Amino acid sequence: MSDSPAGKTILITGANRGIGLALAQRLQALGAEVIAVCRRSSIDLDALGVEVIDGVDVSDQQQVEGLARKLEGRNIDWLVNNAGILERDTLEPLDVAAIERQFRVNTLGPLMVSAALLDRFAAGSKVFVITSAMGSIGDNTSGGYYGYRISKAAVNMAFKSLSVDLAPRKVGAYMLHPGFVSTDMVNNQGEIAPETSAAGLVERMIELRIEDSGTFRHARGHNLEW
Ligand SMILES: NC(=O)c1ccc[n+]([C@@H]2O[C@H](COP(=O)([O-])OP(=O)(O)OC[C@H]3O[C@@H](n4cnc5c(N)ncnc54)[C@H](OP(=O)(O)O)[C@@H]3O)[C@@H](O)[C@H]2O)c1
Repeated sequence: MSDSPAGKTILITGANRGIGLALAQRLQALGAEVIAVCRRSSIDLDALGVEVIDGVDVSDQQQVEGLARKLEGRNIDWLVNNAGILERDTLEPLDVAAIERQFRVNTLGPLMVSAALLDRFAAGSKVFVITSAMGSIGDNTSGGYYGYRISKAAVNMAFKSLSVDLAPRKVGAYMLHPGFVSTDMVNNQGEIAPETSAAGLVERMIELRIEDSGTFRHARGHNLEW
């Protein structure tokens, strides 16, 4: 059974640029009521005309709780935890501060936002995290990127636990890899445009069922190894 975004309330973090903005555009075009959450809005996001909630750093618990208060009484059908950072941290010397920053934004961010919004979900709601194949232990043949890889592997574990804990409420939790996407994060050197990634991600969001909760999937549709 298709789970169309039309008429759904869909909250996206990091919606001011990159993949988050492309998701907001795509989902709005499909008839969703998009809540675009960001630290600061952008010309492109403002032009979209969706509801924008700015001033939300996902690594700041007080700001995340402020977001939850603003949404009191509203139902959220899909939550898309997209905000993230990548730093090219080093081993020699080990850049501990960079690893901690990435863990806070990429791991604690999605977990804090999801936890703060738990009461906004109903049976059938879906919680996504835009994670990365860089967080796959089995797929790691090139090393490096300590903070990014650790933070994405850890958020996968967090979302696996969420999938178990939210199952009694019939709320699904899913991990999605967007592909190698030309955004600021990768100096626009990716293989696909944000719009192409967003189209694939939205297809997955539509087709993933409660039975699939806890899976780690590529935007193109196949499962990824942990
Ligand atoms: N691009 C790729 O090839 C690729 C591959 C795998 C996974 N991903 C994942 O896809 C997601 C989106 O990445 P992207 O490529 O679109 O990167 P991007 O263009 O750099 O955009 C990152 C977004 O995250 C937001 N953000 C960063 N730190 C934040 C914080 N502390 N609080 C709130 N928002 C914050 C940014 O907002 P500001 O404008 O305020 O900084 C921006 O909206 C990330 O989770 C990334 O890890 C990307």
